[in-house]
Amino acid sequence: MASRDLSSEVSRAILDRIRKARRVSVLTGAGVSAESGIPTFRGAGGIWEKYDFNKLATPHGFMENPELAWDWYQLRQREMMKAQPNEAHLVIAEMEDHFPSFAVLTQNIDGFHRRAGSRNIVELHGNIWRMRCVRDGTIVELDSPVEHIPPLCQCGSIMRPDVVWFGEPLPSEAIEAASTVARESDVMFVVGTSAIVYPAAALPALTKSAGGLVVEVNVEPTPVTAYAALTLFGPAGEVLPAFWTLVR
Ligand code: OAD
Repeated sequence: MASRDLSSEVSRAILDRIRKARRVSVLTGAGVSAESGIPTFRGAGGIWEKYDFNKLATPHGFMENPELAWDWYQLRQREMMKAQPNEAHLVIAEMEDHFPSFAVLTQNIDGFHRRAGSRNIVELHGNIWRMRCVRDGTIVELDSPVEHIPPLCQCGSIMRPDVVWFGEPLPSEAIEAASTVARESDVMFVVGTSAIVYPAAALPALTKSAGGLVVEVNVEPTPVTAYAALTLFGPAGEVLPAFWTLVR
């Protein structure tokens, strides 16, 4: 397949700014993993169209029926275990070697950025490959899907997925680190996020208001499109490699 030619869509001024950038970040959402076969949350065929987030992604729903929630997380773990990082994850990992300072700020819990080779990653919404005791906070790392449902802590209490649910605050170190990165970024790429779930959705605006350049990659417009210097429309796995070929 011939790769897409973006040369007519990207101005020389923007390319120059990216080439000279010292501090670069990438904010990613579910869209960056779409081409790995992982469904996004919103839009046609989105997870929240098919499943009730109240039961699966709120502390109250989980405590009412942990077996139901864990059945679903086990399904997602199996699906993510079978899938592979795609070209977008790989290019993002490659970008890290190119700039003096580089960070991936991700809302995704799938762990694909690390599998693709990214090193400096801030996970804003936790990670599906970790679970946490609801009573004493003990953390257990997983390298394969959970076997027994619901998994139990050594203390006898139920373990929950160590992910952020609706109504819960983000881990304070993660959102603080991400906010600092966003304010200091000369360039932030915003890839595959609907940019409507806060506080992550506010990060590109921090970059913009501190004088940084925001470049978006998405298949459709989002609230970020209104203030991004450039939005490249198309699947991230196709657009990012083509864009990176222009920049390098
Ligand atoms: P969403 O499902 O809300 O948005 C996915 C975005 O990816 C949309 O803007 C799509 O247009 C875009 N998209 C789809 N396929 C794409 C592709 N191949 N290339 C580029 N873009 C593509 O996912 P998030 O923005 O990540 O939170 O959602 C934010 C949070 O809401 C999630 O972390 C999760 C969810 O509920 C929690 O569970 C706390």
